[in-house]
Amino acid sequence: MKKKVFLTRTLHDFALEQLKKRYQVEVNSGKIPIQQIKLQSKIKEVDGLICFPYDKINKDVIESAKNLKVISTYSVGFDHIDTESAKKKKIRVGYTPEVLTDATANLAFSLLLDVSRRISEGDRIIRNGKWKEIYGAYDYVGVDLKDKTIGILGLGRIGEMLAKRAKAFDMKIAYHNRNQVSKAKEKMLNAKYVSFEELVSQSDFISIHVPHTKETNNLFGMKNFKKMKKTAYLINTSRGKVINEKDLVTALKKKIISGAGLDVFETEPIKKSHPLAKLENVVLAPHIGSSTEETRIKMVEIAVKNLNLGMNGEKPVYSVGY
Ligand code: DGY
Repeated sequence: MKKKVFLTRTLHDFALEQLKKRYQVEVNSGKIPIQQIKLQSKIKEVDGLICFPYDKINKDVIESAKNLKVISTYSVGFDHIDTESAKKKKIRVGYTPEVLTDATANLAFSLLLDVSRRISEGDRIIRNGKWKEIYGAYDYVGVDLKDKTIGILGLGRIGEMLAKRAKAFDMKIAYHNRNQVSKAKEKMLNAKYVSFEELVSQSDFISIHVPHTKETNNLFGMKNFKKMKKTAYLINTSRGKVINEKDLVTALKKKIISGAGLDVFETEPIKKSHPLAKLENVVLAPHIGSSTEETRIKMVEIAVKNLNLGMNGEKPVYSVGY
C-alpha cells in the first residue's frame, strides 16, 4: 500500500504528478490556511506533510501525528513549525533555503528603490488622476543611494546577496549578525560589522534578514524607531512580527522615520483598511519574496526531495533539527 502524503494547499502540477506516482496524495481542498482542527485530524492519518508558512504546525498538531515521518515546508522560514516537538518524535523537518536567496534579495532591494524614489506613490498619484504639477523642484523628490549606509540585520544568504546589490549602487554597507563573518567576506562585500545600536542609529536604510524568534519578536518598536535617523527607511522581507506594527504606523505618521518597504506583516493577509495601507510613505507587497516562476519551481523541487528523503527515513537536503 502506498504511503499517505497530505498537502495543506496545492503545488505545481508536475510536482503533484511526481508525488502521486509514489504516494497516496491528498491536497487540502478547503479553507486556506487550513483550519487547525482539520490539520490536527489529517496529521493522524499521514506519513508525510507538505506545508506552507501560514500553517501552524504546533505542538498539538505534531503530537496528534501517529506515523508522520517528515514535514516538508515550502519556505525558507520554519518559524511556523515546532521543530523541537518534531525532533522529540523523530519527525524530519525539511525547508527550502538557497534557491530563494536571489529572489528575496531582489525584492528587498526593489522595496528599497521603490520607497526611496516614491515609485508606488507616484503610481497612485497618476491612477488617482492627481498628477497636476510637472517637474517642480520639490515634486515627488526621493533620495539618492550613493554613499548612503545600508544596515543589514542578518548577514546570512539573503543579507549577503542584498549587500552585493547595495555595493553595485555605491552604498556603504554596515551589518549586524550573531557572528561576525570572515574578514575575506567583509572585504568582498565591503561590509563593516557594527553593533545593533550602531546599525540602528547610523543607517540610512535598514533591511531585516533575521528569523522571527523570541529574541527578534518586536525588535523594531518605538524605542528603536526613535534611535533611527529621521531620514531613514526600514525594509522588511523576513517576518512581520520582528516589527511592532502599531509603533511603525506611529513612526511613519509622525515622520520619526522617513519610510518603509514591507513584504511581511504581523498578521497576513492585511486588509485595505489596515493603517499601513493608508500611509503614503510605505510600500507594501503581499509576501512575495520568493515569488518568481523560476524560484517557485526550484522550491517545489526541493520540497518534494525533502519529503522523499524524510519518507525514506533519511535527512532532507535542507533539514532543521533532526
Ligand atoms: C519563506 O519562504 O519563508 C519566505 O517568507 C518567502 O518569502
